[in-house]
Amino acid sequence: MVYVTRRERFSAAHRLFNPALSDEENFKLYGLCSNPNWHGHNYIIEVVVCGEVDPNTGYLLDLKVLKEIIRKNVIEKVDHKNLNIETDFMKGIIPSAENIAAAIWKQLANKIPKGKLYSIKLYETENNYFEYKGE
Ligand code: NI
Repeated sequence: MVYVTRRERFSAAHRLFNPALSDEENFKLYGLCSNPNWHGHNYIIEVVVCGEVDPNTGYLLDLKVLKEIIRKNVIEKVDHKNLNIETDFMKGIIPSAENIAAAIWKQLANKIPKGKLYSIKLYETENNYFEYKGE
């Protein structure tokens, strides 16, 4: 079994906000991350695929193909966007890093042409990262 990782980057705005709570309760829960005028992060994602090496190619899968799948299904929908209002796959989801990682998994899990999706790692800051490995 081999594990292949593709790293991509995107910049996006968000606000941590639970619509079931008042503004005051949201501030108490999320602090500055609930700023109504948004704030942004330079996110890094790492998409890990695992499987067997194809003896005909020496590859698990072609990383150019994986890169295009990630670009089309994730990066184009999040880069320089507002995750609360512009990203279709984040509709109705509080855009915490945990939830973004899980939503990216759902975007990609059934689109991996060889092997299977093993994990999504999402770096929100230099010191904080989140890893999702499926349900
Ligand atoms: Ni934030």
